[in-house]
Amino acid sequence: MSEMKKKIILTGDRPTGKLHLGHFVGSLSRRVELQESGLYDKIFIMIADAQALTDNADNPDKVRENIIEVALDYLSCGIDPTRSTIFIQSYVAELTELAFYYMNLVTVQRLQRNPTVKAEIQMRGFSENGTEEENQQRKGTPVGFFTYPISQASDITAFKATTVPVGADQEPMLEQTREIVHKFNSVYGETLVEPEIMLPTNAACLRLPGIDGKAKMSKSLGNCIYLSDTAEEVKKKVMSMYTDPDHLKVSDPGKVEGNCVFTYLDAFSKPEHFAKYLPEYESLDALKEHYRRGGLGDVKCKKLLIAVLEELLEPIRERRKYYEQHIEEVYEILRRGSEEARATAAETLKEVRRAMRIDYFEDKELIERQAAAFRAKAQQ
Ligand code: TRP
Repeated sequence: MSEMKKKIILTGDRPTGKLHLGHFVGSLSRRVELQESGLYDKIFIMIADAQALTDNADNPDKVRENIIEVALDYLSCGIDPTRSTIFIQSYVAELTELAFYYMNLVTVQRLQRNPTVKAEIQMRGFSENGTEEENQQRKGTPVGFFTYPISQASDITAFKATTVPVGADQEPMLEQTREIVHKFNSVYGETLVEPEIMLPTNAACLRLPGIDGKAKMSKSLGNCIYLSDTAEEVKKKVMSMYTDPDHLKVSDPGKVEGNCVFTYLDAFSKPEHFAKYLPEYESLDALKEHYRRGGLGDVKCKKLLIAVLEELLEPIRERRKYYEQHIEEVYEILRRGSEEARATAAETLKEVRRAMRIDYFEDKELIERQAAAFRAKAQQ
């Protein structure tokens, strides 16, 4: 009888900083929706500390301090530890063992073609055409970083994940995972589950620009609104936001495309916000139309955006307040989650070892056959 395939989610983040609105639209809100949908048998959310160390080996404190930040961000966004399992990657030792076996199924050349790895090698790697000084300044690529697509395949397959909700930047990792699954199953027999990537759906969410209008919200550019920002900080950031540099006087016609305030309203505003805060406009389209025509000032639009963001961030802040006062409880959630994750990964590893025929102690046939052969030899 065929068993119905379980629907299992695995996803995660590197703990290298606090999470911001870009993470919220790109992944966190989706995870909460998936959790609420009740359509999944299991949801695993991993804090990828070991992966973060692949290019932060000299900065373990950064990773160590940010685990709690990321956990607080998860919990305050509404990830419910009774329905989703939050765990820490390095506490699931089985993941490294799996990666060690998968390394035999992937070529150096294939890893070099992975776009993320390729970019890193170009940035940090030594070059045959480079001068001596150039090569001395470059740090080179750590082997751990080089192989992290393989480690990511272990993260996903250890939990038999069917669905991996991530941003488009993770597509090469998923592709490589699927290749490893194919290779493993064709060499050792059907064992691993092939995962599907689940990309964000809303176009504005695919890539939320920073408040300076730069391509992406990113910590290194200093253009983020953090989920942990106070109401005062959010207000200040929105007020300083990049709009249309040619929209100088209120009466000037304005551009909506590339104007951060409107990109954010696209991503976050709902029709009911207009009735509530700006009843003179029927919808976002009406507001945009007025802005384009001229006669609508930036400040009015920014005040709307502040109100919209506050509706989103206030409940997050409330939940955060509770967890910030219960840090021991948060670590307990992570500890229990890690134990549960480890038990699941151990099951998969058992199957993997059986498929690879390296489960020697479990292998009665192997032991009996060899015992019989040696006995026969002794009697000759
Ligand atoms: N590489 C992911 C990131 O940088 C984090 C991650 C590690 C991950 N392992 C994963 C995501 C497995 C999804 C599945 O955001």
